Amino acid sequence: MKDRKNCLEVSGLTAGYGQEKAVIENLDFVLEREECLCLHGASGCGKSTVIWAVMGVIREMGGYAEGKILYQAPCGDVDMVGGREEEVRSLRWKEIALVPQSSMNSFNPMYTIRKTINEVLFQHNEGMGKQEAEERCRELFDMVRLEEKALGSYPGELSGGMRQRAAIALALALDPKLLILDEATTGLDVIVEADILWVLRRLRRKKNMSMLFVSHDDRIARAFCDRRLEF
Ligand SMILES: Nc1ncnc2c1ncn2[C@@H]1O[C@H](COP(=O)(O)OP(=O)(O)OP(=O)(O)O)[C@@H](O)[C@H]1O
Ligand SMILES: [Mg+2]
Repeated sequence: MKDRKNCLEVSGLTAGYGQEKAVIENLDFVLEREECLCLHGASGCGKSTVIWAVMGVIREMGGYAEGKILYQAPCGDVDMVGGREEEVRSLRWKEIALVPQSSMNSFNPMYTIRKTINEVLFQHNEGMGKQEAEERCRELFDMVRLEEKALGSYPGELSGGMRQRAAIALALALDPKLLILDEATTGLDVIVEADILWVLRRLRRKKNMSMLFVSHDDRIARAFCDRRLEF
């Protein structure tokens, strides 16, 4: 990493699917610590593709990536494109977490929200007790301004806005340093949208998180982010 104040350094990123022309060609950008960078552009320009490359899951999505995506982890720089699989995997959730484009994708429809959050907590915290997990669930719901009783709901029972908050709570389960939000408020009405942005703003301040905020909405890009990257 050239600069210690950077959270992420992307250089020469080319990504795409199969034999067709690459979706992203030779992209360079930097995300500083505690910065909120908007990835802004029209539908289909490759915003989610960049996110999948940053998360190190582009192959699982049927795609490929070339170039470098350096994440400054406590153990040193990790290349999310060419790094060892177990090293990249160890950063997911704990260091880098994603709120995916459709909050339905965050949850198993057969599980209550509590069960999905508990799975993540238990998987990454050996020896965590049931009581401690329950307290963490409540704390997370408080952060995103959801009532505790929604922990017992199935994803399909929640409104779009509530599900989106629950998806943010899930992404925050292990206190990540970099939160990636893919169209976090798309499809929500303006009042719910404003409230979710308020929650995110407060989280940024409280937790000193860095954010990659994917949006095709010019107004939100301007109002919420420090800087934007046009596609
Ligand atoms: N799994 C996939 N397999 C093949 N092509 C894909 C896949 N995912 C995306 N694409 C194609 O890659 C291009 C970029 O898609 P991507 O989802 O990254 O765009 P986006 O900017 O996130 O769009 P949106 O704003 O609609 O979410 C599109 O042409 C899309 O059809
Ligand atoms: Mg997308």
